[in-house]
Amino acid sequence: MPAALHFDKGLANTIAAETSLSFIDGEKGVLEYVGIDIDSLARQSTFEETTFLLWRRRLPTSGELSAFERELHAHAPLPHGMLDLVRLFPRSAPPMHALRTLVSALALFDAEADDSSPAANERKSMRLIARTPGLIAAFDRHRKGKPILEADPSAGLARDFLRMLNGAEPTAAMAQALDVCLILHADHGLNASTFGARVTIATLSDMYSAMATAVGTLKGPLHGGANEGVMQMLEEIGSIDAVDGYMREKLANKDKVMGFGHRVYKAYDPRATYLKTFAEKIARDTGNERLFEMSKRIESIMHEAVAAKGIYPNVDFYSATTYASLGLDLDLFTCIFAMSRMAGWTGHCIEQLDGNRLIRPHAEYTGPHGVAYTTIDRR
Ligand code: SDX
Repeated sequence: MPAALHFDKGLANTIAAETSLSFIDGEKGVLEYVGIDIDSLARQSTFEETTFLLWRRRLPTSGELSAFERELHAHAPLPHGMLDLVRLFPRSAPPMHALRTLVSALALFDAEADDSSPAANERKSMRLIARTPGLIAAFDRHRKGKPILEADPSAGLARDFLRMLNGAEPTAAMAQALDVCLILHADHGLNASTFGARVTIATLSDMYSAMATAVGTLKGPLHGGANEGVMQMLEEIGSIDAVDGYMREKLANKDKVMGFGHRVYKAYDPRATYLKTFAEKIARDTGNERLFEMSKRIESIMHEAVAAKGIYPNVDFYSATTYASLGLDLDLFTCIFAMSRMAGWTGHCIEQLDGNRLIRPHAEYTGPHGVAYTTIDRR
C-alpha cells in the first residue's frame, strides 16, 4: 500500500521534482537562474549565454560561449520540407496552433528523433531552440503572403528572428530588447508547461513530443497565453480615460485580470519589475506611451484593490506593452514566450532524465462501485 496519500488540488502544495535550473522565492519576489538573480542576467547576459547557464549550470568562458553560439546558430536553417509544410497551413490558423504543429513536425526531419542518449538530446534541444524563431517567422510571413526568409546562421537568435519576421534588419535597440525578454522568460521552476514536458519525457518518450506538450500547455490563458490577454484588454479599454470605468466593472464582476496574480509569487514578480522599466523606455522610444500609461493606471487600481491578497503584476503584464512597442502582432506574443521557454523546457527534460522516475500520481475516485451491466435492450 503506498504511503499516506493526500489530495492537493492543482498540486499547489506539492513538490513534484527537484531542479537546479531556477529558484523562486514567491514571498520575497526572487527569481534566480542557477543562483544568479534575474535582474543581473537581464542587464548583462544574452539569451544564448543564459541557455548555456541553464543547461550546464555555470556561465561559459568567452571561448565556450563563442563555440556554443556557433553550434546553436548552425542549426537555425529549417529543413526545406518544413517550409513546404508551413505553406500548406491555412493563413487564418492561430499562431500557437501552427507552432505546436510545427514543433511536432520537426521530429519527422530529425534522424535522431528517437535517440534518447544525452548527446542526441542536447543536439535536438539545440535544434529546437535554434529553429523555433524560424518556425514562427515562417508562419507569420506565410499568413501575410510574404516570402519566407531563411535563417542566417551567423546571427544571434533575437536579431535574426526580427529580421526574418519583418524582412529588415532590426535596430540594435530592438534586437537587444527582444533578447532581454527571451532571458526573462527562459525558465521558471515547475510551471505548468515545464511540468507537462517533464511528465512526457519521464515516460522515455522523445524531446519533440515533450516540447509539443509544453507548447500546447503554455497556450492556455491562465499560463503563457495571458500576455495576449493583457493586450486584448488594453485594446478593449482603448484610452487612459476609460481605464477606471473598465477596471471598476472587472473588479465588481470578480473577473480575473490578465497579467496579475501568480501561483507562486505573492509579491511583485521580479521579471515584471524589470519589464516595467524596460516597457516604459521602449514605449517612449516608439511612441507607445499610451499603452504604458494605461498599464500603470491599471496597476495602481489593482494595487489598491487586491495587493492585500498577494495579487501583483506577473511577467505577462508589462511584456504585453514591450512586445506591442516592438511591433509584434498580438497573436504572436505567446509564441515569443515559447521561443524563450524552449531553453528551460529542454533543460528540465535533460535534468528529468538524470535519475528519471515515471511521473504518475493518484486520482481520488469519486464514482460509483458495484454497478450491474444493463443490456442495451433494457436501457
Ligand atoms: C505565467 O507558474 C508559473 O511560473 C507561470 C509563469 C512562468 O513563467 O511559467 O510565471 C507564467 O503563467 C504567469 C501567470 C499568467 N496568468 C495570468 O496572468 C492569468 C490571470 N492570473 C490568474 O488566473 C491566477 O492568478 C493564476 C492562474 C496565475 C494563479 O491562480 P491560482 O494560484 O490558482 O489562484 P486562484 O485562481 O485560486 O486565485 C486566488 C484568489 C482568488 O480570489 P478568491 O476566490 O480567493 O476571493 O486570487 C484571485 C482569485 O479570484 N485572483 C485574481 C487574479 N488572480 C487570482 N483576481 C483578479 N485578477 C487576477 N488575475
